[in-house]
Formats: sequence, C-alpha cells, structure tokens
Amino acid sequence: MAERRLLIAGNWKMNGLRSEAVVLASDLASRLQQSGPDGVDLLLCPPATLVWAVGQVVEGSGVLLGGQDCHAEAKGAHTGDIAAPMLAEAGCGFVIVGHSERRQNHRESDPVVAAKAAAANRAGLTAIICVGETEAERDRGEAKAVVARQLAGSIPPGSSAATTVIAYEPVWAIGTGRSASIGDVAEMHAHIRVELDRHLTGALDVRILYGGSVKPGNARELLALADVDGALVGGASLVADDFWAIALSCR
Ligand code: PGA
Repeated sequence: MAERRLLIAGNWKMNGLRSEAVVLASDLASRLQQSGPDGVDLLLCPPATLVWAVGQVVEGSGVLLGGQDCHAEAKGAHTGDIAAPMLAEAGCGFVIVGHSERRQNHRESDPVVAAKAAAANRAGLTAIICVGETEAERDRGEAKAVVARQLAGSIPPGSSAATTVIAYEPVWAIGTGRSASIGDVAEMHAHIRVELDRHLTGALDVRILYGGSVKPGNARELLALADVDGALVGGASLVADDFWAIALSCR
C-alpha cells in the first residue's frame, strides 16, 4: 500500500462571483507555492461558471480543480446539465457526485450517482462519491447500514483507488456547525474502509474524506484519525485563511 496523500477539497457550492473567486483562488495558489503542507493535495470545486477562470488562476500552482456534479452522459439534450468531458476540458481532474444536497434537492438515487461516477471515470476524472446518513437514520441506529447501502449502490463496476475518492458527510453535520464526534467519525471511516473492499480494487489506497462543518478548530483532530484522508469543506472553504488553516492542520 502506498502512503495515502491527504486531500483537502473546497466545495464552494453555489457561491462566488468571478472577482471574489479569482481573489480567493489566487490567494490559495500563492500560499501553496510559497510553503505548501507536505503530502497534502489542495482541491477547489467552484461552481461551473467559474471553473475556467479558477483554472487559469491556479494553473501551475499545484492547486487542483474539480467540478461539483456531472451528468451520466457525455453529451446530449440535457438542459442545464454539465458533462464530465466538459469539466475535463476545462482543467478539472475531479468531480463531486452524489452530494447529499443533490441527493435531496434533485432526488438523485444511488444508481444515478453510480452512473455519474462512471461517466466521470470515462472522462478521466476522479469521482468524489459522497455518502452519509440523515439524523433520523443515525438516531435509529442505521447509520452504518445506510452508508454501506450507499457505497454498494453508488460505486460503479470497475472502480479503483485511482478513480475514486469517498466523502463521508453525515447530512445533519453539513452547514450546521455540528460536526460528527471524533469517535463516530473514526468508527464510520473504518467501516467504510472494510466495505470498500467489496466494491473496488485497492481499498487500502482509497482516500476517504470527512465532510460536515470542518473548520480550523476541529480539523486537526479529525485529520489525525487513521482512516480520515482529508476533508470536504463547504463554508470554511470560502474563506482563504480558514481553508488554509485546515490544510495546515494536516501537518
Ligand atoms: P460544510 O459543507 O463544510 O459547510 O458543512 C460540507 C459539504 O457539504 O461538502
């Protein structure tokens, strides 16, 4: 097993206009060029309209670029959607699929997520496949079963550590300021690692990110956990100092 590089991914969601996005991205790019944390990949996932602009700003800096969603098909009559080859052409190496906001707001099921991940892989992108239980599911003691079911349904056949990143994001922790407890994160990530072995090759090499109210104040203890290989950061990724502090917590 190779050492897993940590991945700190910023999910900007539907935030940012060009001027502020360029300032944020170039700030992070120049910090990374001056003194990047060792063994850590930094990834920005801006809204689709900003992918090109952010890509130009971060080019050559080492900051990686990703999309927030893609369609399962490479092209066609799908008004408002974006295809994986379009993201690849714009400079993306990654795309988030199955984020709980898409599962909830757009009723995306596990098979839809799997088809999107497969499309991402066909376009040469690494799919960041998101899973996570709701608060009601956790209260009923179903968290592990729900995540196991999501993994089984959302990881397309033929996946490997090279094509796949998993993000565990308990739905109730996203954007609420309440992150999961250290014990619960450790237990769930170990569970995911075991489950992954059933669905892809190289489970030990897959990066499993934690997401849900990650901030400078809790990043260090989350990122110190054995099976936490990075973070998917929403709100705190919009503030350069906070996102950078989270990246430095990996040291
Ligand atoms: P948050 O979002 O950090 O604002 O909780 C995380 C995510 O949804 O990816």
